[in-house]
Amino acid sequence: VHWTAEEKAAIASVWAKVNIEQDGHDALTRLLVVYPWTQRYFSSFGNLSNVSAISGNVKVKAHGNKVLSAVGTSIQHLDDVKGHLKALSKTHSEELHVDPENFKRLSDVLVIVLASKLGSAFTPQVQAVWEKFNAVLVAALSHGYF
Ligand code: HEM
Repeated sequence: VHWTAEEKAAIASVWAKVNIEQDGHDALTRLLVVYPWTQRYFSSFGNLSNVSAISGNVKVKAHGNKVLSAVGTSIQHLDDVKGHLKALSKTHSEELHVDPENFKRLSDVLVIVLASKLGSAFTPQVQAVWEKFNAVLVAALSHGYF
């Protein structure tokens, strides 16, 4: 994947506005509420029975932080996201048995969290670059399945 200097700058400017803890929590909460079948992977997290249980669950919050931290380090390795996420992809495939379709779902809810946070700064051009990054992220996480 080739990134222009403008694309790299756009991704960096989005990421500079992200609060990993809060936005990670919001994204994972949305994933679990909007796509409830994803809850089955998090049976160790305790009560996920309704929206307030999910959004108030401290394990959801801690895990959202972990997920967005991994997105952040991927942004630091834009020229080799696949290599950077190789071990994490294997973990999701071979140990966690996460259906890779769900990576796309997570990247979709993250776009919604970013759009609502950035408002008018999340222009169509910025979204276009972010969607390119999402595609790279999802492909990298899915790579260990093949
Ligand atoms: C664990 C990142 C998507 C399910 C993890 C960990 C990271 C991570 C960093 C911790 C790994 C470790 O401790 O070694 C990501 C990223 C994703 C993503 C960057 C997409 C952008 C998903 C999705 C699901 C999922 C979509 C399921 C629907 C899990 C589960 C664990 C995990 C069940 C173990 C949780 C635990 O028991 O603590 N993920 N993940 N992940 N992930 Fe993901």
